[in-house]
Amino acid sequence: MAGKFIVVEGLEGAGKSSVISLIVETLQARGLSVTQTREPGGTPMAEAIRECVKHDWDEEVAEETELMLMYAARVQLLKNRILPALASGEWVVGDRHDLSSQAYQGGGRGLNADTLRALADIALDGFTPDLTLYLDVEPATGLARARGRGELDRIEQAGLVFFERTRDRYLALAADDPTITTIDAMQPMAAVHAQVRHCVEQFLP
Ligand SMILES: Nc1ncnc2c1ncn2[C@@H]1O[C@H](COP(=O)(O)OP(=O)(O)O)[C@@H](O)[C@H]1O
Ligand SMILES: [Mg+2]
Repeated sequence: MAGKFIVVEGLEGAGKSSVISLIVETLQARGLSVTQTREPGGTPMAEAIRECVKHDWDEEVAEETELMLMYAARVQLLKNRILPALASGEWVVGDRHDLSSQAYQGGGRGLNADTLRALADIALDGFTPDLTLYLDVEPATGLARARGRGELDRIEQAGLVFFERTRDRYLALAADDPTITTIDAMQPMAAVHAQVRHCVEQFLP
């Protein structure tokens, strides 16, 4: 029997990492074998692309370049790890997938949504996750959590506009797609985890 692909999405500090651990434990407790992935990355070449994307280049990096690198890494991960794992019956739990590009590059950076969808069609050939949990958090809260402190500096404040646009796009895309469940990640962690566990258990065979 083929496995399923569950993706966890959300802004920095939304709580993806801890939710992923919970999902992996929940699946393993049911005797399922589980593979974890993160994007961009997850194969030798995709990890090299991740380094390339994060590198502080001594030149302007075009938004289109960033976008295509993200998709290049995603194709490597899909073909060399996700699809083989699913075919062999493993469940795959992903830290981000295509929805991140739709939200960050589409909403945050303002790239044309139709162009993005066309690129996704080429790269993914119709492949979509079976279930996506979108952890919704206000950007200021998420960034403060991620930084491990309470206040944002001037640069982070300026960056909030970008994250607000990204969050708005996440919410709009989630509202339109029945395979995406939005979870209020502003709640205490115990409440978030209870909702995640419930959602995953409903989804299990
Ligand atoms: N619901 C929550 N309430 C308070 N703190 C949280 C919550 N979820 C996560 N955290 C904390 O916020 C920080 C970032 O969480 P993390 O899981 O690394 O987020 P992400 O992987 O989405 O960036 C961690 O220190 C984590 O313990
Ligand atoms: Mg994380």
